[in-house]
Amino acid sequence: PEFWAVIPAAGIGSRMRADRPKQYLELAGRTILEHTLGCFLDHPRLRRLVVSLAADDPWWPGLACAGDPRIERVAGGKERADSVLNALARLAELGAGDDDWVLVHDAARPNLSAFDLDLLLAELADDPVGGLLAVPARDTLKRAGPDGRVRETVDRSVIWQAYTPQMFRFAALYRALSDALVAGVAITDEASALEWAGQAPRLVEGRADNLKITRPEDLDWLRQRWADRH
Ligand code: C5P
Repeated sequence: PEFWAVIPAAGIGSRMRADRPKQYLELAGRTILEHTLGCFLDHPRLRRLVVSLAADDPWWPGLACAGDPRIERVAGGKERADSVLNALARLAELGAGDDDWVLVHDAARPNLSAFDLDLLLAELADDPVGGLLAVPARDTLKRAGPDGRVRETVDRSVIWQAYTPQMFRFAALYRALSDALVAGVAITDEASALEWAGQAPRLVEGRADNLKITRPEDLDWLRQRWADRH
């Protein structure tokens, strides 16, 4: 099977309180999105990727990789799942096979390591369903009531944080995601669509530093780390 990558990058990132969507903020001399795309473009198995962009995105044309022939662009949708679905429709036009693998990765996770990407590909190579990078919960977890008081402590030994990439077979992912959206199910990652379709995606333990940049302090932390490293 072939390997395809999908990068939803059509979000606004309002929690960052910045003047532009977070994927266009600067990190070590390039935009976050360029670093994220680089993780996939540098990989020998993943040559074609589809990036979902907001319809009125004025920043993309300014990126060094904007004209890269390995990158296809599609319009994003209202929610992340709509953006992914538009990209899958393009993969169908590009001739993706039913059993090809699709890796969906957040534009706002620029610190994905080549090691984790290889680990995911190796662990899932023979898997009938597919799966995702994930990190076991480290903190003690509380379920809150509407009054902001603790109702109970949750057993953290069975709780994982869902990261990306999430890797599924093209046809199974396309069908699960379309059906779930038609059914009005809330879908915040690809695995939840497969779960809704009755599948049990595999959890592959990845590095915690493949974090999704969500709040200003996440970017501060990553900038500091990269400055120390380079
Ligand atoms: O907002 P959040 O951090 O959950 O977004 C995760 C990823 O999904 C980001 O890369 C964001 O750009 C993307 N996204 C999208 N289309 C939307 C909303 C989010 O492509 N409508």
